[in-house]
This record gives sequence, C-alpha cells and structure tokens, in this order.
Amino acid sequence: MRIDIVCALPQLFGSFLDSSIVGRSREKGLVILEVHNLHDYAKDRFRHIDDTPYGGGAGMIIQCQPVFDCIEKLKSEREYDDVIYLTPDGQTLHQQMCIELSISKNLIVLCGHYKGIDQRIRHSLVTREISIGDFVLTGGEIAAAVLIDSVVRLIPGAVSDAQSVLEDSFMNGVLDAPQYTKPAEFRGMKVPEVLLSGDHEQISKWREKMAIEKTRERRPDLLDKSEPT
Ligand code: ADE
Repeated sequence: MRIDIVCALPQLFGSFLDSSIVGRSREKGLVILEVHNLHDYAKDRFRHIDDTPYGGGAGMIIQCQPVFDCIEKLKSEREYDDVIYLTPDGQTLHQQMCIELSISKNLIVLCGHYKGIDQRIRHSLVTREISIGDFVLTGGEIAAAVLIDSVVRLIPGAVSDAQSVLEDSFMNGVLDAPQYTKPAEFRGMKVPEVLLSGDHEQISKWREKMAIEKTRERRPDLLDKSEPT
C-alpha cells in the first residue's frame, strides 16, 4: 500500500511515521508513506498557500492552485483508490471503514488547515471526506495520523500476531474483554481464576461474556446494531 499525505505542516507528523507499527510496516515494505508540503507548490516567494474567504469571515482558506498542482502531479504518476480529505464535517471514522481502506493500493490523504480548503478542491479532487470525531482540531495532520495508524495496523503482516488484531475492540461488533498479565496477584487484586486454568474453551466463553457485558454497559448502541430488527 502507498499513502501520500498532502499537508501544510509536515513537521506535525514528528516521529509518528518512524515509530511503532507504522514505522515497522514501512521498514518491512508493507507501506510507503510520503509527505508532501503544500508550501513547496506555492507560486510566490513567501510560499503562501492560503487567502481570506470570499464573503468575509474569520480565518484563512487553503487555495486551489497548490492543492491541484500537488494532487494532479501525484495522479499523473499512479492511480489512486481514493483522495481522502480530513474534515470535521466528513463521515465519522469507524473500524469497518478502516478495514475497507486497508485493502486500498494507493491513497492520497489531504489535510486541511486554518479555516478549511476552497470548496472547488472538495468538488473536483476529493472522493471521500472523513472526520475522526465530533470535535475540531487545528488542522488535519493529527487526524491523518489517527487514520493512517488505524489503517496500517490492519495490513496483513503489520501486527505480528494477526489474532490480536481480530480480537480488537469493534472487530466483532463489541468492545474488547479485560486483559491481565503477570503477576497473578498484585496488591491483593487477583487475576480471574479462569484465565489461569489453561482451559481455552472456558477462557473464550469468559472473554465473550465480559466483552458483551462491557459493551452493554458502555456502548449499548453497538449491540443494538447487531440485533435483528
Ligand atoms: N480537521 C479538524 N478537525 C477534524 C476532525 N475532527 N476530523 C478530521 N479532520 C479534522
């Protein structure tokens, strides 16, 4: 998979692209991640990429020209499955969407900044608009990092124990069961007996029961979705 990130503040990605599962997936050649700085596509010597909104109002809007130039250059080099724009008014990200995106070959992820981007970019270039939740970030870079992390870990081989991904919260429509590690007792708090029993069938049943209980308590909406209407 290849992901081209188009943004105004590449430095916001910091060590994210080189760390943990994303970093290792790049090393293993499972994913190519390239960051493109929109300021490199500016035409003036101050490298401006934004201007004031027509009709007035606060904030600055990213202009068409640098975004069109950057994305058209990328599209002339290869075909893309989607051009994703991260925006609070997009479709809210969920695990099923991450699974769908994880089988893409090439993706462009466009990050907005300031007050947003010119609508003509959304109209002509963007094929999918995604929000990471009902709150507003300063820019799309952090949202892009969230999206990329959640998608890359689903690429086969990215996480060494594939079973662990299948057991994640949301993968079966429920939240994950509680987890414990050594020691079996800490400050008087004991690990549930069943987990020490070695009886895999019982462990599985216990995990399923706990997952459903937790989901009922915290996210009953998830259970409603899986129940027949
Ligand atoms: N840009 C600013 N806020 C955002 C959000 N909640 N999701 C995606 N992109 C954003």
